[in-house]
Amino acid sequence: MKKTADSNPKVYRNYFRQRTANQWHKIEAEVGIPGAIRPFLAGNWKMNMIPLSGVALTARILDICRGIRDVDIGLAPPHTGLSTLADYIKPDFLRTEYGLGRNVFLLAQDTFFESKGAFTGEISPEMLGAIGVDRVIIGHSDRRANLGKYYGFASSVARRLTDSFLSDKLKKLKAKDGADAQVIATLEYLVAKENHELLSGLTRFLEEELRERAGESDQSIQLKIQAALGQGLQVILCCGENREARLANETFSLLDRQLRMAFEVVSPRAVSEVIIAYEPVWAIGEGAKPATLEQIKEVHDFIRNLIMDLYGEQTASNIRILYGGNVKPDNIVDIMNISGVDGALVGGASLKANDFASIIRFGLNT
Ligand code: PGA
Repeated sequence: MKKTADSNPKVYRNYFRQRTANQWHKIEAEVGIPGAIRPFLAGNWKMNMIPLSGVALTARILDICRGIRDVDIGLAPPHTGLSTLADYIKPDFLRTEYGLGRNVFLLAQDTFFESKGAFTGEISPEMLGAIGVDRVIIGHSDRRANLGKYYGFASSVARRLTDSFLSDKLKKLKAKDGADAQVIATLEYLVAKENHELLSGLTRFLEEELRERAGESDQSIQLKIQAALGQGLQVILCCGENREARLANETFSLLDRQLRMAFEVVSPRAVSEVIIAYEPVWAIGEGAKPATLEQIKEVHDFIRNLIMDLYGEQTASNIRILYGGNVKPDNIVDIMNISGVDGALVGGASLKANDFASIIRFGLNT
């Protein structure tokens, strides 16, 4: 016999945040209490899974999560898998097959900001909406910071900063009429023997800068947020510092910049359509360690206070702030117990049915 929500009732822990003395507290609340914050567990498959494997993975996850209606579940296949998955997770089917409600959301991993035109390879919010996408991830650090190195921008700059490249340029410039004297002087300075250290320092600096610049910028993220909200898509806005910023004690100033820029284009009415994901770049991916519970709490409090600054207390209380970066079955309970954490954006573990299902079921295991 097929198991359903009724034959297998589950009482999920729900969450209600209260704010007292400048601290957000999470208390257990009755399921369905108005104002309860529904946890949101979202799996970002990144560039993995062909469409049919994605459906098979989803079927295995949902099979383990039968009857769970008190959390929101998000699945973010690559663009090529969206349409097939959209057909599979139709609410009526999920209700009869798995005893789920309308709590499974289809997420896209990115969007372009123009609606149509000569933008080869890009996909617009309209196109995503048309195939049933509910929410779109914007500003993921894989895109903000890391893409540049794959496209080779940084290494092409590094090549230009070698001694031989610069000496050659210098020779050619000197031979040229009307060459800029200051450029010649700078190159002479750089290729002088005693400046090797300066040169390699400069290379590293430029590589780092380019890696950042070549990916998503705060400006393109703004445009994407605006375009997605304009098309009725909800936004999962990612923010987070890289290792260098954390070590230089610049975490909060960087987050402040990322978030203020992003929310500049979000009106007080539209802010309920935005979910924030705090994803420290250094905590993401295989081999990295998740942020500590203290670090997560400190940053989530900072973000919520920033939202309070921008939109007031009610909005700050309602907005969901997720954590991402090596969320696994063995740390999800501790992470979800942090007062300001409303869910998780999960990469690697979301590709394993058992792991992602136990992350979704975190509230049943405590
Ligand atoms: P991870 O990825 O869970 O594999 O660390 C998280 C993310 O990039 O969203």
